[in-house]
Amino acid sequence: MSLLDKIDSVKKNFLADIEDFPRDNNKIIRLKSAYLGRKGKIADLFSQLGNVDSETRPRIGQAINKLKKELTILFDTKLNENLKDQKDIDAPYIDLTLPGITQSYGSMHVLEQTMQEIKDIFTSIGFHIAYGPEVDDEYHNFSALNIPEHHPSRDMQDTFFIDPLTILRSHTSNVQVHLMESEDPPIRYVVPGRVYRNEAISYKSYCLFHQIEGIYVNEKVSFAELKGCLEYFIKRMFGDKKGMRFRPSFFPFTEPSAEVDIWDDDRNQWMEVLGCGMVDPAVLDNVGYDSQKWHGYAFGIGVERMAMLKYKINDIRLFYNGDIRFSRQFA
Ligand code: PHE
Repeated sequence: MSLLDKIDSVKKNFLADIEDFPRDNNKIIRLKSAYLGRKGKIADLFSQLGNVDSETRPRIGQAINKLKKELTILFDTKLNENLKDQKDIDAPYIDLTLPGITQSYGSMHVLEQTMQEIKDIFTSIGFHIAYGPEVDDEYHNFSALNIPEHHPSRDMQDTFFIDPLTILRSHTSNVQVHLMESEDPPIRYVVPGRVYRNEAISYKSYCLFHQIEGIYVNEKVSFAELKGCLEYFIKRMFGDKKGMRFRPSFFPFTEPSAEVDIWDDDRNQWMEVLGCGMVDPAVLDNVGYDSQKWHGYAFGIGVERMAMLKYKINDIRLFYNGDIRFSRQFA
């Protein structure tokens, strides 16, 4: 076959290929390199030009060049058409003007935030932080704290039992006992943690909640110091103007005992937020501290109630229903 015939047949093949030209630009580009690429059909024709006699060579060279130009124009036109007609190409359509998908972040739960605030206040005045077991024996939760065998809080109605001797702690005061058992006085700790009570559920009581226990034991500790410490704490939490009162109370492990109420502006009534008192000498004796020499005070703060008053949350159950719209308000 003469070179001129070959040029003709390349052109015919091309016209056949162009018939079922795909709409996919990637395929067109592949086809383009099969014809016009460095090892393509046109390059092959040029390479055979050397075998042609010098008289006809210019004419044939021109013919190949002409074909090359034609093909180049046809390919480029086709590619541009497809680009203009974006919607019709197989590749997925990407709208670069749409806003991006943003990363969504979690946030600290308002309870965790409140615990952090309380811990910060107490560590700033010399308290250390400690933790203790949520599942504990009756001894640490009750007996060592001077709570007698038949005290109503030991009842199944109030306490969750795992087995007859093991319970979910009903307060963080169990950690007072653990700390005093393992360390010599003086000690000064706050103990954040979860507690469990089989209570009637209402806007202010839930079957689990959080407390922050405080325990301070030293040679000279007075009720006035306890009062000063808690007044300072409430002022830092709520500011100077919040109504607060100490009310005489009773706990088997403190003597004398008191409770602190904070004025609830929304409900127009006092809300009890913590219990406190001077550590009963019987408790000191139980852990092997010399109650003649050492004295102490203790307190247990209800964290949910603090958060309710501070952030105007009117139902304790809101902390536990996992509604993200609730959590987001405090982020
Ligand atoms: N443990 C008591 C309660 O849960 C609170 C308290 C702690 C009282 C420490 C006195 C001292 O109600």
